[in-house]
Amino acid sequence: TTVELIGAPTDIGASVRGAGMGPDALRVADIAGTLSRLGFEIVDRGNLAGPATPWTEPANGLRHLDEVVTWNRSVYAAVDHALAAGHLPLLMGGDHCLAVGSISAIAWHARRRGKKLRVLWLDAHSDVNTERTSPSGNIHGMPVACLLGHGPEALSGWSGEAAALEHDAIRFLGIRSVDAEEKAAIRALGLNVFDMRHIDEHGMRTTMTEALQDIDEGTHLHVSFDLDCLDPDYAPGVGTGVRGGPTWREMQLCMEMIADTGRLASLDVVELNPALDVRNRTAEVAVELIESLFGKSTLVR
Ligand code: ARG
Ligand code: MN
Ligand code: MN
Ligand code: MN
Repeated sequence: TTVELIGAPTDIGASVRGAGMGPDALRVADIAGTLSRLGFEIVDRGNLAGPATPWTEPANGLRHLDEVVTWNRSVYAAVDHALAAGHLPLLMGGDHCLAVGSISAIAWHARRRGKKLRVLWLDAHSDVNTERTSPSGNIHGMPVACLLGHGPEALSGWSGEAAALEHDAIRFLGIRSVDAEEKAAIRALGLNVFDMRHIDEHGMRTTMTEALQDIDEGTHLHVSFDLDCLDPDYAPGVGTGVRGGPTWREMQLCMEMIADTGRLASLDVVELNPALDVRNRTAEVAVELIESLFGKSTLVR
């Protein structure tokens, strides 16, 4: 397999500056060398270009909408190009709003290839706000709503369907910060959320068995990895950290169990904020986890 690294250096959908340095922090943590030592061919496409973040106030409930659209168009094109070449796209964000472009392109290819798309959303947050419910107007809190066809017009329909994802195509894991109106949306839409209480009560192993239960040979498995999923003790370099997340060990098991399915076909790594990090620790942790996600194991290789 050829893994195609795509850098999207922007904090356009975030509330805190710094996520634009994420791609280079992952390169400094040797994401390319690490995956290549695991036996993957690596193509680094470098960084996409896009508008600077103007840090203006939200308009109609949306901050930086035009710039978010522009960045996502570039991400869509790059992910589409990688998939068309038969490569595995690894989007290095950048904030989580970029999942709209990435997952829309993936949904388009999966449908064309007759694959069943499954998305694992690893995050402290459910990111299912809309411009009507968001307390902040920050679009990184809205990508799930956009992909389900409930977001703003300008970020809808990119996959060629009204919704890139069916409500039952996405599994959330590690969730512990859900805004009041997001709770109502999760219930109304029937979303599958494995929150921290579920992980506390059942453990990561049982939780992952449930989350991966309908993955089969015909599945395109996409992982959207928001680094704030991890407990901030392990991953301090994020803009919207929330106490009480999975430990490094729990997250390793999560990644190993995903790897065991053999169906991982695309990945977003987002919300890394080197400006808030401690000596690049969060990027290093991210690379260690990605290594397990791509099949590193202690005894086999
Ligand atoms: N729910 C909050 C909001 O809508 C925080 C979202 C954080 N999202 C993220 N991708 N880090 O503003
Ligand atoms: Mn988050
Ligand atoms: Mn449905
Ligand atoms: Mn997120």
